[in-house]
Amino acid sequence: MKKFMKTICLSAAIIGVGTSTALPSFAMSNTHPQLNSNKILNIAHRGASAYAPEHTMPSYELGDQMKGDYIELDLQMTKDGQLIAMHDETLDRTTNGTGLVKEYTLEEIKRLDAGSWFNKKYPEKAKEEFEGLQVQTLEEIIEHFGQSKNYYIETKSPEVYPGMEEKLLDILEKHNLTRQNGPSSKVIIQSFSEESLKKIHNINEDIPLVQLIDYTTSATISEKELNDYEEYAVGLGMSFKKIDENYVSKVREHDLLIHPYTVVEKEDMERLLDWGVTGMFTNNPDSLEEVLKER
Ligand code: G3P
Ligand code: CA
Repeated sequence: MKKFMKTICLSAAIIGVGTSTALPSFAMSNTHPQLNSNKILNIAHRGASAYAPEHTMPSYELGDQMKGDYIELDLQMTKDGQLIAMHDETLDRTTNGTGLVKEYTLEEIKRLDAGSWFNKKYPEKAKEEFEGLQVQTLEEIIEHFGQSKNYYIETKSPEVYPGMEEKLLDILEKHNLTRQNGPSSKVIIQSFSEESLKKIHNINEDIPLVQLIDYTTSATISEKELNDYEEYAVGLGMSFKKIDENYVSKVREHDLLIHPYTVVEKEDMERLLDWGVTGMFTNNPDSLEEVLKER
C-alpha cells in the first residue's frame, strides 16, 4: 500500500500535481527537496564531532558552518524527564560526571563539564573555549538554531526512558517542526528501536523516520524486510563497513533512502556515493562537502 502511494505521489510531483496533506509520510517527503533522493544529505554526526566535543553547541555550530544539511543528535532523558543531547546512557565518557543519566536531574547535569574530555583526548584539536561546556537540552538546541537548521534526531535507549517519544513530539510540535505546523522534513527521527519508530509513526505519520540497523556480520536484506521497513520508514541507516553495492541497490529499488554511518575518510565517501547512497553520517561534514563539490 505504501509503495503504491509513493508511486502515486512521485508521479504527481513529476507532472506538477499538488499533493494532499492526507498522503503518508514518504509520499510527502518526495515533494521536499531535502528528502528528494537526488539530494545527497550531509549529516553532521553529533555535530562536526571530529573538531569539537560531540553534542555541544560548538560542535553543532561547526556542523552548520561546514555545510551539514542536518545536525545529528542522540537523545537521553534525565531523572526529571528532560531530553538532553548525549550519546551514552552514562555520563562518564563525555562529561566529568559519572553514572547513569536517568539518575540525575537536569540541574545536576548542567553543572558538569562536557568539553574538557575532548581537549584531553585530542590535544592536537584542543581549544580553551571547549572547557566547561554544558550539556544541551533538545529544546536549547532547537531554540538556538530555530528553523534555520534541520535536525536528525535519534531516540536512544527508548526502552530505558518510557515516554521519550511523546516528549520529543511535544517539543517538535511546540517549535513548529512537525507537519501540523511546519515542514516535516526539517526533522528526521531515527532509531535502532523499531518499536520506538512505530510508536512515533502511530502518533504522527508525517514525520520522516529512518530505521537504524546494527549488523553483526556483513549486511544482507530480504524483500520481506524491505517491505516491512517501508511501511513506516522513509529510509535505513547502517554501518558503512557492513554494506556493499548490491545492498545499496536493493534498498534504493524500494525507494528507501540509505544513510550509512559513520564515514570519515574521503575514499569511503566516494565509494558509497558511487554505489548510490542518498546521504551519510559523518564527523567531518567539511570533507563530505568537498567530495560532493568535486563530483
Ligand atoms: O545515528 C546514526 C549513528 O549515529 C548511529 O550510531 O552509535 O553513533 O548513534 P551512534
Ligand atoms: Ca546517532
